[in-house]
Amino acid sequence: MRSKVFWLVVLALAILVAVISCYAPRYGGGSEIIPPMHPIYDEPEYPLYEYDESDIYEPYIEETLPPDPGELDLQTNNVFVAGRYAGFLTWGYFRHSAVYEDIAIADSQVRDTYTGAILYTQDIIDTEMMDKVLSLLAGAILAHTPQAAPYLYMIEADWLRHLVIDHEGLRVMLAPDITPWDLGFMHILLTYEELDEAFLLGVELGLREPPHRPMVALTFDDGPSSYTDMILDILEAHGARATFCVLGNRIHHRPETLVRAVASGSEVIGHSWDHSDFTRLNASAISSQITRTSAEIEAATGISPPPLVRVPYGATNSRVINTARDLGYSLLHWSVDPQDWANRDAYVIYEHIMRRAIEGSIILLHDIHTSTAEAMTMVIPRLIEEGFQLVTASELIAHHYGELEAGEVYKGFRNPW
Ligand code: NI
Repeated sequence: MRSKVFWLVVLALAILVAVISCYAPRYGGGSEIIPPMHPIYDEPEYPLYEYDESDIYEPYIEETLPPDPGELDLQTNNVFVAGRYAGFLTWGYFRHSAVYEDIAIADSQVRDTYTGAILYTQDIIDTEMMDKVLSLLAGAILAHTPQAAPYLYMIEADWLRHLVIDHEGLRVMLAPDITPWDLGFMHILLTYEELDEAFLLGVELGLREPPHRPMVALTFDDGPSSYTDMILDILEAHGARATFCVLGNRIHHRPETLVRAVASGSEVIGHSWDHSDFTRLNASAISSQITRTSAEIEAATGISPPPLVRVPYGATNSRVINTARDLGYSLLHWSVDPQDWANRDAYVIYEHIMRRAIEGSIILLHDIHTSTAEAMTMVIPRLIEEGFQLVTASELIAHHYGELEAGEVYKGFRNPW
């Protein structure tokens, strides 16, 4: 509602204008007054309707243009892919009689519903491969709209601003706010097959195998003990696996711990029955140490362990090796030894491992010390952060050496520095 005063002012102005116009001399018609020169500045091609409340022309505009709420014409396309990626594209126009051209409206969003994160183009497309992606896009545009050919020299990364992850490829929306107006809205599909590695989420969508991550095997001797479960807690929390080299005569104390280890993907192998030095034993005693322990592991876990033994102290001679070979067993040594049994210092253990671990390392530890369990709270997440996958000794050997060979001594890879 306009106040009465407002309308009185308008009326007074109108009367004033009327009175002045009656007396004002006209251009032409014999008048002596010279018309003003045409202004030098460029006038806009069409009227601008931006004004504020105090603009004295406001009543004039309101009277000459009928009230028009405008018309919003929008379409939306929602997609949800792989039970994980949600996205939408919205496009259309806003039309208003007071606006010279329709206003193009375009919006899009992709969200990773696992993490809640909004994904931007650089999270979806490898920007290092942008040239390849833009040339694919140009080809797809040309196939879709041949009359776009004259505009394709303008193509740039910003043309990928609106996209969604769809089932068969990336759906790219080209809107008039980015691309030349004449082309209107275009919906272009770039298939995952042609994008290949330029599409960063190929592994998540199950389109590609994950790249190989360097392997490290953590091995824990002399258990099981109360610390074994603490270490399993950490391994399980990080989806990691390890190898537990147990003493046969300790298994009956904690059979459920070994069941848990096997159930979470770790492996359990023998480390002798009673920690005897095998080099001081005859062949039949060595043989008994190995087979009795394996039988006890199988009785506890229901799974027969791989033919792999960690001999106490790493002490071997030709008799030990020949006896193992005759039994079909291989020996598991190590390449990284943080001396956790001696220093009992979680930080020293952590530092040693982080400095020495490389692809293919087999790390010697003992799950009978609180400091070792404590070190694992730092070591396990840090190794994963650095790109390592924590696997069992058997997995590491299978990857780096091939099938287990009886009588072979596997040490893992050592950092030469
Ligand atoms: Ni030992």
